[in-house]
Amino acid sequence: MRRIRLNFANLQISFADRDSALKRVEEWVDGGTYPVQVVYGPEGCGKTAWLLQSVELLRELGFDVIYVNPLNKLIMAEFSIEDLRDRFLRLVEESIRQNALAKIAWIAYDIAYELIKATRGKVAIIVDDVFQVIGIKESAMYVKALLNLIEYPPEHYERIITIAATSEGSSKSEIGRHRWANLLTMWNMTKEGFKQLYEQLPGEKPGFEEVWEITGGNPWVLESLHRLRWNVEELLKEITTRKNLDIFISSLSLSDKEILTKALDDPDILMSREGIPLMDRLIELNLIINIPQWRDEHLWIDQPPPEKDLELGIGKYVAWQSPLYKEAVRRAINRLM
Ligand SMILES: Nc1ncnc2c1ncn2[C@@H]1O[C@H](COP(=O)(O)OP(=O)(O)O)[C@@H](O)[C@H]1O
Ligand SMILES: [Mg+2]
Repeated sequence: MRRIRLNFANLQISFADRDSALKRVEEWVDGGTYPVQVVYGPEGCGKTAWLLQSVELLRELGFDVIYVNPLNKLIMAEFSIEDLRDRFLRLVEESIRQNALAKIAWIAYDIAYELIKATRGKVAIIVDDVFQVIGIKESAMYVKALLNLIEYPPEHYERIITIAATSEGSSKSEIGRHRWANLLTMWNMTKEGFKQLYEQLPGEKPGFEEVWEITGGNPWVLESLHRLRWNVEELLKEITTRKNLDIFISSLSLSDKEILTKALDDPDILMSREGIPLMDRLIELNLIINIPQWRDEHLWIDQPPPEKDLELGIGKYVAWQSPLYKEAVRRAINRLM
């Protein structure tokens, strides 16, 4: 399989590692997906990169592939029926012009339906960051519609693969309530995999161990540090501003502040009656994720995080998306207490 090139800050780098994640796609090639595979993981952990590499893999294996990411306005139409492709691109362009991003998700669905009808072959529909634009309630309906493609297709087909990825914790719980989806979690990169990424970065850089401790293997954090010439302070400010951390901390009750302070050392504290409302807010802010306590590989895309690594902010049930978020919160608490 050809490894794709990806934009990374001002660079182009090769897709690194994620071998088991790609193996999972190969399993789907052999068996199809049932039900819809919904992949949830920290912001910037590499879901989009993996999906784009999967588009390449599926294409090489003879699939017609539709990929849409309405949030990034990124779409791919890897299929051979020319007028269908033209229609797809035209409709998507029109939606972007009207800023009707949610429509793109449904266009992808319609085109997949037409593709199955026309080819009766191997079709993959991959939707990335769709739930964010269509909203929580409609997300469940959308997943149901994708399941219908598998269960009640317009024609017999050889194989259908449907994958949806999201960083939205709230859509995850809504979708998880139904039998329409199989929920999988993706974590940041493993130390070895992350090293392959780190080594591709040219120029002077801090040592790998230091970078690992700051990022916890989150490629977006690495990309941002590289963009900011390794200025950690600048990135902490960016995160604090983007997530409105000062307002968030100021809005907390004294007891929530106490729980949050404890959660900096052990995020599993949040998994308690007093902690759960706070946990939900931290999930909404995309600072932590709630993870399956079982590290069985079939529940994960690629390697699960370690059972517990408190230095990196990983608990059994709850994990900080990157140690740097934990640090940003720590500083905001210290500033405001
Ligand atoms: N396995 C990988 N190899 C190379 N670059 C990667 C890899 N995973 C992520 N990246 C890069 O890291 C950044 C963040 O990853 P992205 O896929 O956008 O995360 P997500 O979709 O989970 O938010 C992007 O620039 C992406 O290209
Ligand atoms: Mg993404």
